[in-house]
Amino acid sequence: MRIIRARDYEDMSRIAANLFFAQIVVKPGSVLGLATGSSVLGLYENLAASYESGDLDFSEVKTVNLDEYAGLDGKNDQSYRYYMDSNLFSRVNIKRENTHLPNGLAEDMAAECARYNSLIEGFCGVDIQLLGIGHNGHIGFNEPGDCFIKETHVVDLTESTIKANARLFADEKDVPRQAYTMGIQNIMQAKKIVLCVSGSQKAEILREVLYGDVTPQVPGSVLQLHPDLTVVADEEALGGSDRV
Ligand code: GLP
Repeated sequence: MRIIRARDYEDMSRIAANLFFAQIVVKPGSVLGLATGSSVLGLYENLAASYESGDLDFSEVKTVNLDEYAGLDGKNDQSYRYYMDSNLFSRVNIKRENTHLPNGLAEDMAAECARYNSLIEGFCGVDIQLLGIGHNGHIGFNEPGDCFIKETHVVDLTESTIKANARLFADEKDVPRQAYTMGIQNIMQAKKIVLCVSGSQKAEILREVLYGDVTPQVPGSVLQLHPDLTVVADEEALGGSDRV
């Protein structure tokens, strides 16, 4: 595991974006595993700026996102499809058919999970997977539980996740109760993983993720076992830990 200590959110976003920048330059047809949430917004801002300045070309890039709310249309401004379209895809020259998320409106949820697993398998490996971390240690929407679930599945979101994500909805009751997420094996099979963490409110869970027991009760702890994990975290997120 490599830990890069960033000064603040901007610094974290710039450093993490540079890792994706390098990946795309070295392999223009890279498969990027992408995430949503506030931790990675600044990274997308940096990547869009690199495209706008002519330094980065997304024409061969393929993307596959970690997760999506069940029941939300991609045009709903709370869906992860909408987030990706507005924060990255519409701002760079990526081909729309090369961007993938679970379909929140799929009628047959089991078939949608199977479709997404085959899609990931068809890519022969995600080259670089971006992750944030939930307050309860979730990655994607893999919530704390009794076992690590390997492949794409539908999860019942925990109350703490619903509350944490309610800040982005008009009302807490609007937050979907279920979501599609890549499983732990899907995530761990990525060749490289970049985890972005910012802010003092994530300090405790980050310490558990990086140095606690590897347990499905803290899903992100499994990342300790990945052979190429880079954690880009700011001072506040790393603060308080004498281990980092
Ligand atoms: C959501 C997403 C996760 C993300 C997490 C943290 O629950 N499903 O992929 O990592 O939120 O989000 P934030 O970066 O906004 O704290």
